[in-house]
Amino acid sequence: MIANTDIAKAMEIHLGTLFDELPSMPEFTPGIRRAPARHFNLSQKDTELALKNALRYIPERWHAQLAPEFLEELLSCGRIYGYRFRPPGHIKGRPIDDYKGNCIEGRAFQVMIDNNLDFDVALYPYELVTYGETGQVCQNWMQYRLISRYLEVLTREQTLVMASGHPVGLFASSPEAPRVIITNALMVGCFDDQENWHRATALGVANYGQMTAGGWMYIGPQGIVHGTYSTILNAGRAKLGIPTDQDLAGRLFVTSGLGGMSGAQGKAVVIANGVGIIAEVDYSRIQTRLAQGWIDQVTESPAETFAAAREYQCNRQGWAIAFYGNVVDLLEYAVHHDVKIDLLSDQTSCHAVYEGGYCPQGISFEQRTELLRSGHAGFKEMVDATLRHHYELIKALSNRGTYFFDYGNSFLKAVYDAGIKDICKNGENPLDGFIFQSYVEDIMGPVLFDYGYGPFRWVCLSGRDEDLSKTDRAAMECIDPERRFQDRDNYNWIRDALKNRLVVGTRARILYQDALGRMKIALKFNEMVRTGEIGPVMLGRDHHDTGGTDSPFRETANIRDGSNIMADMATHCFAGNAARGMSLVALHNGGGVGIGKAINGGFGLVLDGSERVDAIIRRAIPWDVMGGVARRAWARNQPSIETCIQYNELRKGLDHITLPYVADERLIGDLVEEAFAKHK
Ligand SMILES: NC(=O)c1ccc[n+]([C@@H]2O[C@H](COP(=O)([O-])OP(=O)(O)OC[C@H]3O[C@@H](n4cnc5c(N)ncnc54)[C@H](O)[C@@H]3O)[C@@H](O)[C@H]2O)c1
Repeated sequence: MIANTDIAKAMEIHLGTLFDELPSMPEFTPGIRRAPARHFNLSQKDTELALKNALRYIPERWHAQLAPEFLEELLSCGRIYGYRFRPPGHIKGRPIDDYKGNCIEGRAFQVMIDNNLDFDVALYPYELVTYGETGQVCQNWMQYRLISRYLEVLTREQTLVMASGHPVGLFASSPEAPRVIITNALMVGCFDDQENWHRATALGVANYGQMTAGGWMYIGPQGIVHGTYSTILNAGRAKLGIPTDQDLAGRLFVTSGLGGMSGAQGKAVVIANGVGIIAEVDYSRIQTRLAQGWIDQVTESPAETFAAAREYQCNRQGWAIAFYGNVVDLLEYAVHHDVKIDLLSDQTSCHAVYEGGYCPQGISFEQRTELLRSGHAGFKEMVDATLRHHYELIKALSNRGTYFFDYGNSFLKAVYDAGIKDICKNGENPLDGFIFQSYVEDIMGPVLFDYGYGPFRWVCLSGRDEDLSKTDRAAMECIDPERRFQDRDNYNWIRDALKNRLVVGTRARILYQDALGRMKIALKFNEMVRTGEIGPVMLGRDHHDTGGTDSPFRETANIRDGSNIMADMATHCFAGNAARGMSLVALHNGGGVGIGKAINGGFGLVLDGSERVDAIIRRAIPWDVMGGVARRAWARNQPSIETCIQYNELRKGLDHITLPYVADERLIGDLVEEAFAKHK
């Protein structure tokens, strides 16, 4: 066997070159949320494997000391995080000039990663979880140290390859290639399930990147505020008959979750001028949102909660109330007391219901955490029973006129998994969808994604407030508010963005735009970097978008040609973005809805003011969006066909999209009916 001394000699970058001595165990700052212990159920053999896997990062001289320490972490936390290697204190996304590096991209990614791990931004910063209960930047602190170092030495002639948080290494490429290629939790089909994923993460070979956590593009809950605002506003227009030039004044939106992403709900409903009640079982998360000003009031009894909401509805004033308690208790009260709820949703972490994402009724958040630690036996049944009851309450409210929508957290699928077949349209399985619509089927899909409108975002890497204000103004000037009502909404959004105090962490902004709108804004920003008006900018998007994600229960829920079970689009988007020179490309399993239920991808593009980047913007940004619109058009979605017809005209000689001929419903219906009748 090759000696570890020879292995050490063969590497310039490893923990042995980064540390002369083993770093001491960091102090855990009191009050910082910690991840619940993940259920440990590895066999003895697998436990050995997990330890050997983690020790691959560790020089041999520290094995005897770290093996028992890692074993203790594995037994008590269910994972090996390597806490000892975490940099002490508060990690923050600092201005780019504070970082070392051989290329601007390497420094920019360090800003992004550190922002994802900021105490103010991340859900469980010590466990590298950015949001969504389990969405990690990478699996452990050894990986974090190595990634940071690789990014410091990365040059324009190399690409860093990342496999589920593990830095595979630097490989020669070219300035036109991505500087980083990331994949997370891409499991082989027959093993692509919860059980195998749980084992793989415990073994230290799989990372759940969610969407933007593992792709290093998370920008705090602001990232989702614009989408949530658009969703509830357009739900009001479509389901409550509110005209397109009016807001949600006097209307009540009830939901749950004030965590990483769900924490945006209070802010979004107030921007839409409605009244929101958001149930949350973890008081610490309520405190976070209260301190940020994203929640206006905290209540502890359902009666008090609905009374407060009524007052603000009558005054037609936007207001966000956090109900400290279980959402099911809140809905029970609403059903028994005939409270009128206009819009209803849920944003608990149902993509991971049995791992702590959904708190059963009748127990506190702390009791739930203890049950998770001590084992799953009764816990699963408690979760399932609550989900079934939750469903009955939603049905009762919906029968009275409430509009309920699944908000992309796999809630309907979780109810089905809890044993409710009635929730399926065909009464059997989810193949034909559920009786309640997901927000993408009803709202985001037809109103936004089908046209290419999606969550474009940017980070001013200088860390300067004035850069953000300048980019806000420049983006606003690129939008024609008279084109469509969606453009008017986006224009208003960016006009008021500063006033709405959306920034948590780095100076970042989200703005829904379509393909050519994104390209126009990106070119404008790059020009501003070139002239020195602003510092460098990182562009990206949420994976929750038109083109980058195949997710039948969410992003592609309004694809109805049977191809919603395919993941070609996300894969093409990823490969196409790499081919066109995006600075970073990412492809993940499961984000948002859970392992095996989606493939999602995203990108990062560093604007350095160069003409090289202008060229990348022109070829990559339209592709990133229009691949998705083309797929939606091929599924016969009318707004997408309309968008592609215009696009083919506008981009003659550059792009060309295949369009579907649409068959006459009656022709097909009659023909097939006749054939089936004969066949019988
Ligand atoms: N719609 C979208 O665009 C979108 C975007 C991102 C994430 N998501 C999905 O939304 C879900 C939430 O994401 P997140 O980042 O906020 O996760 P999170 O885990 O940080 O927050 C969920 C919150 O729900 C609370 N909760 C759990 N059970 C509860 C109950 N019964 N009653 C009241 N509160 C309860 C938890 O305490 C937690 O604070 C995830 O499934 C995620 O994948 C949706």
